[in-house]
Amino acid sequence: MLKLNQSYHWGQLQQLLPRYRQQHLRELFAEPGNRFERYSLEVDNILLDYSKNCITEPILTHLFGLTRDMNLPAAVEAMFSGELINKTEQRAVLHTALRNRSNVPVMVNQTDVMPAINTELQRMRLLVEQVRNGDWVGYSGKPITDVVNIGIGGSNLGPRMVTEALRAYADDRIRVHFISNVDGADISRVLASISPGQVLFIVASKTFTTTETMLNAHTARNWLLAATGEQIALKHHFIAVSSNRPLAKAFGIAPENIFTLWDWVGGRYSFWSAIGLPIAIYLGFAQFEALLSGAHAMDQHFRYQPLEKNAPVILALVGIWNSLLLKAQSQVILPYDASLASFPAYIQQADMESNGKHVDRQGQPVDYATGPIIWGHSGMDGQHAFYQFLHQGKVLVPTDFIGSVASSVPLGNHHEQLISNCFAQSEALMNGLSEVEVSAQLKAQGMDATAIAKLAPHKIHAGNRPSNTLLLQRLEPRSLGALIALYEHKIMVQGVLWDICSFDQWGVALGKTLAQAILAELTSTTCHRHDDSTRGLIDYFKAARQPRDD
Ligand code: F6P
Repeated sequence: MLKLNQSYHWGQLQQLLPRYRQQHLRELFAEPGNRFERYSLEVDNILLDYSKNCITEPILTHLFGLTRDMNLPAAVEAMFSGELINKTEQRAVLHTALRNRSNVPVMVNQTDVMPAINTELQRMRLLVEQVRNGDWVGYSGKPITDVVNIGIGGSNLGPRMVTEALRAYADDRIRVHFISNVDGADISRVLASISPGQVLFIVASKTFTTTETMLNAHTARNWLLAATGEQIALKHHFIAVSSNRPLAKAFGIAPENIFTLWDWVGGRYSFWSAIGLPIAIYLGFAQFEALLSGAHAMDQHFRYQPLEKNAPVILALVGIWNSLLLKAQSQVILPYDASLASFPAYIQQADMESNGKHVDRQGQPVDYATGPIIWGHSGMDGQHAFYQFLHQGKVLVPTDFIGSVASSVPLGNHHEQLISNCFAQSEALMNGLSEVEVSAQLKAQGMDATAIAKLAPHKIHAGNRPSNTLLLQRLEPRSLGALIALYEHKIMVQGVLWDICSFDQWGVALGKTLAQAILAELTSTTCHRHDDSTRGLIDYFKAARQPRDD
């Protein structure tokens, strides 16, 4: 297998680096030709403008060459066709099958997975309709008013982000709540706001062993049983989504209330399955299907469009070039849409859990950068928080701006104001403000030369800070589905080019195991060997919890 940094096009890109490290984006925009026309494309009503990156024809030629060096087309086909591409766990990676609206067979180990997916979708539809129509009743005969999702990581972030993002499309027949972490304050707040007779708990856990989720699920179950006094109430108020039926049953979930999650669905790619039930209950099943359709449209684009016209491939290549050219270690995602406030956190898990890897697929250490730190915030609020750093800080952070042509909640000229800020920020990051421009501005304000010389350095913006802008027609179920799938595939492409295993997550296991051992020490006299710091923290915590004499 060819190593990335031994490939021909990687070598060519390395040779281009010195020249382009001197190149300012302003100069590229000053060259003949319209960069926007050349370096933007539209897919399923999503515009991707990547022209404000240090991208030129020679660079693109070699970046696309890299995709061929690293056999990207074959890897894409292997994923869609159910090959066991998650090598370390010997699993297929088929979140795309969950939204395969064409319904063409998808084979895993000689079995078509589509019939099982369709059965689960039918079961979801039924449950959604029963809950939303008031036909699913609690133990006391009253309809469900609140759904509480208990899950963490991929079993929380997706449904939480999508329900928030699409609030404008909900009819608020059913309230949805999310409990993820083990802070007692979290679950207590939710339990205090709901009625035991009218709640439906969804225990969302692929493994059904995640300690945070299990603790919260047991607390919720005890709370319900204390209120109802009857074991039978569980059947009315608890459902599960899991690939571990035996454990879900042992917990007390009625077998008919267990929805299937397959081992070929990664947690961070799972809300397209029954993990998405909170979304479907909140918005209605038709809207959930629209979300799937949007993702499917992006899947088709990704699978069949030539690499040069392929939005996820381009987004991935621009990211790789930025990490190579600028040594950018992070990537900020800035939605100019308050509903997408949780989108960066969602992509953070998808990307960092997938591509935060240090060895290649053969287990050899890699000596190039892999997945960046993903962070972000609602752009408008971020402007008044950390944009100073983006514009004038010493660390360069490539940016993804996300906005919409039309608002899903129109109000006066709010939307125009919002989007004008989005466009202005990418322009400012790219152009900057030179010394000459700053001095001219200050002079025009009547400042003398000495004062200008003192103040000007503080007002100079170097610019040359790259960004992509993604513009949806409107934030709605279909476009959100497509947008998420776009990022999922970008992550996949980068993983293939970096030759890493994007679909496992061994890095989260170590801390989980150690927490179990420390828990035993916090609650008993058990004592394990630790370093001085950890020992000190455990002892301090235990001592500080002892009743004091004074
Ligand atoms: O954080 C690690 C992880 O394994 C994620 O990949 C997953 O989404 C999350 O834990 C929750 O896992 P489960 O759905 O099995 O409870």
